[in-house]
Amino acid sequence: MNKLKIGYEELKQMYLDFFKGHGHAVINSASLIPENDPTVLFTTAGMQPLVPYLLGAKHPAGDKLTDVQKCIRTGDIAEVGDRSHLTFFEMLGNWSLGSYFKKESISMSYEFLTQVFKIDPKNLAATIFIGEDGVPKDMETYETWKSLGFTDDQLFFYGKSENWWGPAGLTGPCGPDTEIFIIDQSKPKCSDECGPACNCGRYTEIWNNVFMEYNKNPDGTFSKLTQKNVDTGMGLERLFCTINGISDVYTTELFWGVIEHLEKVSGKKYEDDIITFRRIADHVRAATFILGDENGIAPSNTEQGYVLRRLIRSTIRNLKKIDITDFILPTLAEIVINQYKASYVELEKRRDFILNELQKEELLFNRTISVGLREINKVIEKLQKGDVIDSTTAFKLYDTYGFPLEFTEEIALEHGLKVDSKGFDALFAEHQEKSRKGAEKKFKGGLADSSEETTKLHTTTHILHKVLRDLLGDHVAQKGSNITAERLRFDFSFERKVTPEELAIVEERVNEVISRDLPVSMEEMSFEEAQKAGAIGLFANKYDIEKVKVYSIGDFSMEVCGGPHVEHTAEIGKFKILKEESSSAGVRRIKASVG
Ligand code: SER
Repeated sequence: MNKLKIGYEELKQMYLDFFKGHGHAVINSASLIPENDPTVLFTTAGMQPLVPYLLGAKHPAGDKLTDVQKCIRTGDIAEVGDRSHLTFFEMLGNWSLGSYFKKESISMSYEFLTQVFKIDPKNLAATIFIGEDGVPKDMETYETWKSLGFTDDQLFFYGKSENWWGPAGLTGPCGPDTEIFIIDQSKPKCSDECGPACNCGRYTEIWNNVFMEYNKNPDGTFSKLTQKNVDTGMGLERLFCTINGISDVYTTELFWGVIEHLEKVSGKKYEDDIITFRRIADHVRAATFILGDENGIAPSNTEQGYVLRRLIRSTIRNLKKIDITDFILPTLAEIVINQYKASYVELEKRRDFILNELQKEELLFNRTISVGLREINKVIEKLQKGDVIDSTTAFKLYDTYGFPLEFTEEIALEHGLKVDSKGFDALFAEHQEKSRKGAEKKFKGGLADSSEETTKLHTTTHILHKVLRDLLGDHVAQKGSNITAERLRFDFSFERKVTPEELAIVEERVNEVISRDLPVSMEEMSFEEAQKAGAIGLFANKYDIEKVKVYSIGDFSMEVCGGPHVEHTAEIGKFKILKEESSSAGVRRIKASVG
C-alpha cells in the first residue's frame, strides 16, 4: 500500500478543526436517506439536509457550520470501475447561512489549502462564473482570487455548464460557484485552450464553493433567496488521493481490506481484473452504508430499495466473474463495518440487519441464477461446439433469470459456443419499446377520454394522491385509477379503513389546494431525473423507459403521468368524497366527484 503524507482520519480532523477555528459549529452527518426532502432518493451533497436553513430557517447550531456528510450518487454507477468514480463517498463541507459570503469563503479555502496543506499557490487554479441568463459575471470572485495573488492564467471563466451548482433536485437553492483545481505541472497544456474544463488530466477539481443566493422555482424561474449563503463541498476520497499523490483510490486503506479478501478467496490478483475488483469493492461499501444507515432500508423493487438491490446483484455477478461462488457478501460487509464503525456508529448498531439482509438477498438471487443455469445447460446440451445460442434463449435468460448478456456470453464461451448478440439487442430494444408504451398507458391513470370533466378529475386525482400521502404516510401508493365523466376512483395501498375524521381532512385539504388556484405545468425528463426530483407515481418497471412527463401542481405535487390536466386548479370546482371502501387486501378505494 501507499505511503501517506496525511492519513484519512487525520485529514478529516484537520478540515473540521480548521473551520471550527474559524467560528464554524461541527455538526453530524445526516442520514443517507433524506428525511424531509422528497426531491431526491439519496443524500447526494452535504447541502441537502441543510436546505431549510439555506432557505432562511434558523439552524440550532448557528449560521456557520461544517461537517463530513455521507453521500450516494447513483448517476455515476455506470462509470464505477474507473480509478475514481464512487457510488458512496464522504463530502467535507462548510456553510455560511446568511453570514459570510464570497470574499471570506474563498480566503478560508485558500488559507486551508496553502497554509494547512502547504500546497504551493502556483499549483492551484480556479474557475469563475462568466455570467449568463441574467446573472452577471462574478467579478467579486475574480477580484478576490486576484487579491490573493492568483494570476490571470490561473483563472478561467465558464458559463452555467461548468460554474453553476444546483438545485440538488428540480427546485431549491442554487447559484454560481468557483471551483478550485490542483494543477499537475508534469502534464503540459494539451492545447492553447487547455483549462480545467478540458479533462486532459492537468487539472483535478478538489473543492466547489457555491454562492447560493438563488432559488429555482417549480415553474423554472429563479428568484433571490432572502439570505446570501455559501455551500462548499470537497470529496474526501479524492482529496485524500490528491494530497497523497495516489492515482487509484482502490489501492488505499479505504478499499484494500475488501480487495485483499477477494484476492485470497478467488486466488486472483487485483491486477488480473481491476474493473471487477473495483466494482465489487465500491458496491459492497455503498450497500453496507445504505443498509446500515440510521434510516436504512432493505432491498426491494422500489425507490432506494431497488437501487440497493441493483448494487447487491451487480456485486454477486461480479463475484462470479472472479470465480467466487461462495456466499461471502456478509464477510465483505463486515470488513466495511469494522473499518468505518468508529466514524459511523450506526453501522455497528445495525450490523445484524446488514448481514442478514445481504445473506437473504444473496440466497434469493443465487436461487434465481441457478434456475437460469439449469435452463442454459439444457440448451447447451443440445448444441455442438461452434454453434450459436439463439437470441430468444439469451433474452429469456435476461428477462426471466436476470442474466445480463455478458454473463450468458461467458458461459457460452466456456463451452465453445457463441451468442446471437445482435438478435438479443433487437429483442431488448423491442422489449423496451413495449414497456415504454405500456408505462405511458399506465401513466394515463385509466383516463379513457380527455373531456373537460375527466381532465378536471384527473388533476384532482393527483391532488388526492398527494394529500393522502401527506396525511397517512409515504407508504400510501397508487394501485389503480379509473375516471369517468361523473367520478374518479382511486385505489391506494393502505392497511386499514380511512376514518370519517381523516376523510373530512382529506376533503378539506384537497379543496384548499384547488382554491389556491395553483398552476399546472409539465416537464419531460429521464426516469432518473424524475426520481431524483421526488416525483410520485413511479412504477416498478420504471427503468425501461427513457423519457417521462412530470406534471407539477404549483409547488404542491409532482407526479409522473401522461396528462392531460387543467391549467389552474381553481378550474376544478368543489371536491367531494362519495365513498371509501376496501378494494382488495391492503388496498383501499376512494370514489369522489368535482363540480
Ligand atoms: N453542493 C456542492 C457540490 O455538491 C458544493 O457542496 O459540489
